[in-house]
Amino acid sequence: MSNFETVIYQKQDAIGYVTLNRPQALNAYNMRMRDELYQVLGAIKDDPDIRVAIFSGSGNKAFCAGADLTEFLTAPSPTIARQVRWQRDVWGLFLNIAKPLICALHGYVLGDGVEIALCCDIRIAAEDAVFGVPETGLGIIPAAGGSQTLSRTTGRAHALEMLLAGRWLKAEEAYRFKLVNQIVPRDDLLPTAERLARKIGAFDPLAVSHAKQAILRGLDMSLKDGLALENRLGELLLNRKGKGSRLSNTG
Ligand code: COA
Repeated sequence: MSNFETVIYQKQDAIGYVTLNRPQALNAYNMRMRDELYQVLGAIKDDPDIRVAIFSGSGNKAFCAGADLTEFLTAPSPTIARQVRWQRDVWGLFLNIAKPLICALHGYVLGDGVEIALCCDIRIAAEDAVFGVPETGLGIIPAAGGSQTLSRTTGRAHALEMLLAGRWLKAEEAYRFKLVNQIVPRDDLLPTAERLARKIGAFDPLAVSHAKQAILRGLDMSLKDGLALENRLGELLLNRKGKGSRLSNTG
């Protein structure tokens, strides 16, 4: 998987490293990146050697400055450009990966950049990170799940403010909005993500994956259904380990 043009994918010690790699265009998300990311996500999902993945952006200025606006300009309309771009369900794939995904964010994190980050489970921001969803100002709305994932992460009021008013956030504000889990100095961004990945990677991968599923799938359920889901996933773990009945799980 080394022939990509817009994404670098590396594997080391059970960690998949995904680097958006169009620094000359602030890692703007174009169709080529969509296709390559789709392949990379498939590899992360299916490769049993990968336990956790880290997403980051190359260059000093941005994690990702949103959709590639030059593709917008070559399409008959922004809407058609979007339709073409999303024909491959990158976002469905992203949200269906049961392994933990960590996002290391620096510089501009705009539009699709925010949406990629929201498909990840833990978001770490450098002090210089700036967040925004400028779509509404461009006459479109997020098409990579952002209108749903943003509100589920930040809550309704913050999501509406960002989306309706196009409000940009500095790292501190993004932390207050619950958009990021942690802020670190720029030099410590990747090391922090890596420490976290190693810690999670050392845990039982099935327990990690079931914990992720319990939380993410449970969020879309009633409490009753969520508790049933937790019970089922717990049973599956216990049975796999041959540890007997659910009663032995004292949780
Ligand atoms: N699509 C395509 N190219 C982009 C881009 C995007 N979304 N964002 C930045 N670039 C390119 C610029 O055209 C420029 O290319 P050039 O050097 O060939 O002229 C290069 O990346 C550097 O960007 P520049 O605008 O010079 O940097 P800046 O520091 O002055 O401004 C931003 C940074 C992010 C404020 C500005 O680039 C911007 O507003 N980008 C568009 C953000 C956006 O609306 N995204 C779409 C969301 S749906």
